[in-house]
Amino acid sequence: MKHLLSVDDFADRPAIEAMLDLTERFVAVSRREIRKVPALRGRTVVSLFFEESTRTRLSFETAAKRLSADVMTFSVASSSVKKGESLLDTVRTIEAMGVDAVVVRHSAAGAAARVASWTGASVVNAGDGRHEHPTQALLDAYTLRSHRGPSLDGCRVAIVGDVRNSRVARSDVKMFHALGCEITLVGPPTLLPERLGGWPVTVAHDLDEVCGEVDVLYMLRIQRERIDQACFPSLREYASRWGLTPARMARCKPDTLVMHPGPMNRGIEIAAEVADSARSLVAEQVANGVAVRMAVLWTLLGAGGTVV
Ligand code: NCD
Repeated sequence: MKHLLSVDDFADRPAIEAMLDLTERFVAVSRREIRKVPALRGRTVVSLFFEESTRTRLSFETAAKRLSADVMTFSVASSSVKKGESLLDTVRTIEAMGVDAVVVRHSAAGAAARVASWTGASVVNAGDGRHEHPTQALLDAYTLRSHRGPSLDGCRVAIVGDVRNSRVARSDVKMFHALGCEITLVGPPTLLPERLGGWPVTVAHDLDEVCGEVDVLYMLRIQRERIDQACFPSLREYASRWGLTPARMARCKPDTLVMHPGPMNRGIEIAAEVADSARSLVAEQVANGVAVRMAVLWTLLGAGGTVV
């Protein structure tokens, strides 16, 4: 594997499971007193983020540092950089410095693939527009597997909310489906994709009908920055119909798990009490993100060497 641009880059289920198994080894590293291995010593990883990010960027940079790679950080305010030539120029500049991996986040779908076509370095897609976010899908799968695995066959997952604008949902649908889950998308019709031809999902609009039936409620952020028109009457109305409130949670099975990729809009798609409850895997998702990204960077750059 040279790049990780999409969940489709994994040939099949065993390839995904091998990455999750490798993640396990890096989770073990992250639990050691000295959380660092020399696997990528002498390699350079650059994070090229054209969109805001807290956890994804810190997670990739932490992962690269724990593998002993050198890390370069480009801070690119999305307002000051346009697509096209300037992206190409940025990539050429980075390339000239000699880098081994570029971690790209960009507001345009396909941007990471474009960067991959311009550079000899490995490229990891850290989120491209509404398209994909494959390492988020890996960390979600890893986190879910650690609670419901090793096999996720038949695990019922509801992905709730702003699916239309969500690259996380696109990658998670592919990932969860590949691992044998049954997926239901839940939300107002205006926030679900217009066409679902080929998506391996069922669709529901009423969260109350679904929440008692599922093993996992995967809540999505209302991406106000991507919503260009009114898709629901008000945030208050959204919260009351599609938000995960304590009352709704009480109607779920006692072992239903709650996930969210962050950043959370507390009080909108998820109530603070639910986000902080024992059934919420949100903090674990973040923690596992580092090990997943160590596994990905090691696979792209270090394969052949020793892991730890
Ligand atoms: C997501 C993203 O940026 O795609 N966040 C993340 O990477 N954890 C989801 C979001 O912004 O809602």
